[in-house]
Amino acid sequence: MKKKILVTRWIFPEIIERLAASCVVDFHDQDTALPPETLADRLADKDGAITFLTDRIDGTVLAHAKRLKVVSNVAVGYNNFDLDALTRAGVMATNTPDVLTETTADTVWALLLASARRVVAADKWVRAGNWKGWQFHDPWYGQDVHHATLGILGMGRIGRAVARRASGFAMRVLYHNRHRLPPESEAGAQWVAFDELLAQSDFLVVMIPYSPAVHHLIDVEAFARMKPTAHLINVARGGIVDEAALIEALQHNRIAGAALDVFENEPHVDPRFFALENVVLTPHIGSSTRATRFAMASLAADNLLAALAGRRPPNLLNPEVLSS
Ligand code: GLV
Ligand code: GLV
Repeated sequence: MKKKILVTRWIFPEIIERLAASCVVDFHDQDTALPPETLADRLADKDGAITFLTDRIDGTVLAHAKRLKVVSNVAVGYNNFDLDALTRAGVMATNTPDVLTETTADTVWALLLASARRVVAADKWVRAGNWKGWQFHDPWYGQDVHHATLGILGMGRIGRAVARRASGFAMRVLYHNRHRLPPESEAGAQWVAFDELLAQSDFLVVMIPYSPAVHHLIDVEAFARMKPTAHLINVARGGIVDEAALIEALQHNRIAGAALDVFENEPHVDPRFFALENVVLTPHIGSSTRATRFAMASLAADNLLAALAGRRPPNLLNPEVLSS
């Protein structure tokens, strides 16, 4: 008998076709999140699911999904999963690392450069018809990126790809992880303590995965330790940064700027950001090129199909499930 699967939102037709060759596919063919109750209802008779970062999979949902064997997230981050609850329920969980590393590192640089050189505010100013003539001492002085200090909080795959790009800008690169990495994994960067990273970075890039342990890690005290000329770039998860504290820091120029691709309560963006010129805002587009989104969807299908066929999925997050 064919396995039954749920695909919780729009995905490429080629991927649906591939899944439909061996599964009965319940496809929510719209690019919106299913309400939690609908998600739970539609999972109740499924063997597997392709999920997205907007789908919360926790004990409540799992209590109704007795046949479920695998949830395959189309994202590298998986804080939408209660991984312990999945493991207890014997459900395999998978994500899509590697395929989005380089694209997301590009996004970090797009935001970093935009923040440093005030690209978005300058664009708005030109569109508003404000440009009356070229000036040498113009209102658009930005900050030099070359030879500055780049600080990477979370030297994982994406952090290393960000660090590699920094060599073209002749930057000094610092990083902080809880544990120092072996030299071959440092991508030419130097480990420093968290407080040192805050104090020395001209550009602080947040690249750690979200978990409750790092909720509001970048808070009022962190902003107080940063240079007044520093820029914060967050392409990881909104909850790592205390947004109220960031808004306060930007309003009072305690730091020079920020560029945010992620927010605490997406898609809600605190309207106080809209009044600020020293912040760049993008709608969670870190992995957003067609090629990379397609690669993520393909890898998610690989993970799901492997698990349903009784093989070990390439990106299994909770291998304990296999040994129990
Ligand atoms: C996107 O945020 C992802 O985790 O892939
Ligand atoms: C995070 O998961 C990364 O790949 O850096």
